[in-house]
Amino acid sequence: AEPFEQYIGPNVMPWLDRIFKGRELKLLGYNRQRIPGNWKLMMENIKDPYHPGLLHTWFVTFGLWRADQKSRMVMDEHGRHAVMISRRNEGGTNKSVTEGVTSFKADMALHDTRLLDVVPEAWWTVDDPSNSGTTITPTVTMITLFPSLIIQQQVNSLSTRHIVPRGAGEFDFVWTHFGFADDTEEMTQRRLRQANLFGPAGFVSADDGEVIEFSQDGFKQWGEGGSTLVELGGRGDDVGQPPTEHMVTETLIRSMYAYWRKAMGE
Ligand SMILES: [Fe+2]
Repeated sequence: AEPFEQYIGPNVMPWLDRIFKGRELKLLGYNRQRIPGNWKLMMENIKDPYHPGLLHTWFVTFGLWRADQKSRMVMDEHGRHAVMISRRNEGGTNKSVTEGVTSFKADMALHDTRLLDVVPEAWWTVDDPSNSGTTITPTVTMITLFPSLIIQQQVNSLSTRHIVPRGAGEFDFVWTHFGFADDTEEMTQRRLRQANLFGPAGFVSADDGEVIEFSQDGFKQWGEGGSTLVELGGRGDDVGQPPTEHMVTETLIRSMYAYWRKAMGE
């Protein structure tokens, strides 16, 4: 194997350092689930910036991730790893991103507002790796490390997700929720409450598991050797290009498949 820092590469490493460098972690808990779909569909899911604003009621209604946010798509020089970076906005109605989006519920409110009791943390702000001399303060970073690890910050919630394939049509998905050793008890509780968005029954993540199952069922209808293709915005993979500064793109997915085919000797 390549040395770790070399494997991750200079584009993605700063986003791992932002969360982990020099910090002692605190384990908060685990979730596990089994999803009846090909394992790569979960990597696609977390390299697809476009679906959260269409599919996830929680994201589009409460402004955690949607098309009118400032965002950036980063990949390593091989296209195998990626980071989807974005900044929360106020949610609510914006005609261009909520009209016709059935998952947007203008009148949805929370009985327990502590679920979205977001408190900004100092470590969120870092020197911008793509624009030296400026800083950047994302509220969400979704890091996908080839082939099977995801590391995510979604406001105050932090977790890793590990994909464990069980053949072509099924995988186990293992979530590890964590915080930092120097967190106050209040911050630990906040991270745990916000972790309810994720995991097998998560207010957001339950949707993804279900859609992966739908997709796998869709592929099956073509039988052994059949193929299914959905394209958004072209055929290139943008490997070696500067990061995309919006979320209407699927280059992170195409680049991952291009690398996967290379790794598999296709
Ligand atoms: Fe999703």
